Amino acid sequence: MTPRLIMKLEVAAVADAAPGVRVLTFRHRLRPALPEPEPGAHVDLHLPDGRVRQYSLCGDPADATGYTIAVKLEPEGRGGSRWVHQQLQPGAVVPVSAPRNHFRLADEARQHVLVAGGIGITPIAAMARHLARCGAAFELHYCVRDEASAPLLPELQAACGTRLHLWRSGGDVPSRFDPHRLSPPPQPGTHLYCCGPHRLVDAVLAATAGWPTGSVHVEHFAPLYDAGFVPEAFQLGIASTGATLEVPAGRSALDVLREHGFMQPSSCGIGVCGACECGYRVADGSTVIHRDVALDDTARAHRMTPCVSRARGRVVLDI
Ligand code: FES
Repeated sequence: MTPRLIMKLEVAAVADAAPGVRVLTFRHRLRPALPEPEPGAHVDLHLPDGRVRQYSLCGDPADATGYTIAVKLEPEGRGGSRWVHQQLQPGAVVPVSAPRNHFRLADEARQHVLVAGGIGITPIAAMARHLARCGAAFELHYCVRDEASAPLLPELQAACGTRLHLWRSGGDVPSRFDPHRLSPPPQPGTHLYCCGPHRLVDAVLAATAGWPTGSVHVEHFAPLYDAGFVPEAFQLGIASTGATLEVPAGRSALDVLREHGFMQPSSCGIGVCGACECGYRVADGSTVIHRDVALDDTARAHRMTPCVSRARGRVVLDI
């Protein structure tokens, strides 16, 4: 994985999109066009203290004059959303990476089903705008508490028309989204994309368990929660040098790589963004323990994220 282009972008506009949700548009002071994002892509924002946060792009992917993100204030979060809400005003300049995409629309799909919950609408909004512009067959299910708490709703209503289905868990007349409506096997060529809280994503995954392999795509905002996991020491081979490094139970493979001078790119450090992914091979009798939420099962067959993923036995990284 090559390092990503980092650009100094200026905050061109800031607007409140819903209570606690702020929409920001970034532009380059000199370049009229930025690297074009794919629908579903995200960028990294580099905070002044060195932390890096990922935010999905929610604007029209065909408009490369700027990048638009929507950030929900998370008072109990790791501080990124607080910094965005408190510090970023028009005119501020921030290092922003070129887009990366782990949540792609399937080229071969003939019908798309989009499901979003709350702020999970951000990558889904970019997909919906793209599909609407292309005249593709799709439906968008947007799950919110009520209309007032639904970021980007007016724009999506304008772009999607009757293909947008708004589901409300509150208000005078609640109309909750029932994931079981997804259970019957779909028409061949249907792909589903879901982003939102864990409980929505888990319910959608359970309801679509009978769908064809590779037709259900999800994006998580939070790291894997597996409190019972007990890490073990393992061996890390380096394909280019033949070296073997020992990874103790209490350290990540990424930390050990860094300690030995391997500058593997990384960003979130919690298995969410995929920036550190690399190819691997395992010795007979060894297995990789994938602990990220960035890679799908197809990618996991040959790629892993050393910031959180581990091995039992020995794994050789293609670096
Ligand atoms: S640094 Fe984000 S997944 Fe590893």
